[in-house]
Amino acid sequence: MRAVDTNVQVPFFRYSHVFGQHREQYMAALLRVLEPGAFILQEDVRLFEQELAAYVGCKHAIGVGNATDALTIVLRAAGIGRGDEVIVPAHTFVASAAAVHWAGATPVVCDIAGDNLIDPVHAESLVTSRTRAIMPVQLNGRTANMEQVLAVAARHGLQVIEDSSQALGSRFKGRCAGTWGRAGVFSFYPAKLIGAFGDAGAIVTDDDDLAAEVRLLRDHGRSGHGGEVQRWGMNSRLDTVHAAVLRVKLRHYGEEVAHRRRVAAIYSQALSGIPGLWIPPGPADSDAHYDVFQNYEIRSQHRDALRAWLEQRGIRTIMQWAGKGLHQFPALGLRAHVAEADRFFKECLLLPMNSSVTDDEARSVADAVRAFCVDGNQ
Ligand SMILES: Cc1ncc(COP(=O)(O)O)c(C=O)c1O
Repeated sequence: MRAVDTNVQVPFFRYSHVFGQHREQYMAALLRVLEPGAFILQEDVRLFEQELAAYVGCKHAIGVGNATDALTIVLRAAGIGRGDEVIVPAHTFVASAAAVHWAGATPVVCDIAGDNLIDPVHAESLVTSRTRAIMPVQLNGRTANMEQVLAVAARHGLQVIEDSSQALGSRFKGRCAGTWGRAGVFSFYPAKLIGAFGDAGAIVTDDDDLAAEVRLLRDHGRSGHGGEVQRWGMNSRLDTVHAAVLRVKLRHYGEEVAHRRRVAAIYSQALSGIPGLWIPPGPADSDAHYDVFQNYEIRSQHRDALRAWLEQRGIRTIMQWAGKGLHQFPALGLRAHVAEADRFFKECLLLPMNSSVTDDEARSVADAVRAFCVDGNQ
């Protein structure tokens, strides 16, 4: 094993890199919007929606303010509200459940399976006469086994709304995250796979009626012509400046994914087979899954000591969402018996994973993790 480079400094994320990477193209895109004052629902929004729909392989994409709004809007558009229950995995950002709450329904917290994503068997056991939908959450750039999720939904007549905020371009059996259920959503928060220079999100669907309803709800319930208000709506439009930037990002997204998969391969190669360390499947490990590695999340029973060890070496890691599941925030009052999720949140840790991580940095991070686990430093 190589000696660990004690001088390495690997931040978790380099925010300045986000703009620096394709600076000239961003400036051209921004000027195209700013100079004519094309701020709200202008050409770049329409074009980004078209390009995003083509990229994921569905009929409609509708740009909105962020993914939390996207979920809230799509639930409301799908007719889900007061008195209804929506099954959501414990392992997700609070936004998934918050959207259910703000749609007026009740989030019901479900356990995760061995892949750290929604457990369809536990989900099925939670179905009641009030359940209207299941919300699988496609985390870390991986799509859940959607055949199993759709089978549960079909048996009980439930809608499937995918929170694919972290999974643009990820596929299961060749089909993109977000396109399996009635609708899916994406987040373009700056640290996401494609990030805007602020908040942004989108909804994708093949359903013409749902798409039309979503377009109304994102813009005050107004129809495009004459401003006639047809429902109570929200103001959650995708800003044209963000759409222009996202179009640049989408053009370069193939390179971004290739980079992330290369970093994941370096991690996976160096860290596979270490007792007590769980690592995600590598990029070449499955024919069914195509992962885009929004994050590279490992599990260790010595997580806190490992984290401190990496920190001492200038390697920054993160426990997603304060290291807590939905049911572990007392203020939300969400109770759940989710043994696997409870274990997961004691063990999970995100290693640096983004387009600024170099191959050498990835090797240094992997070496440091290995040194902790294998050389008896734990
Ligand atoms: C799984 C998941 N769902 C929802 C969201 C909310 O996205 P946004 O910040 O665009 O509202 C995020 C963002 O972190 C997320 O990771």
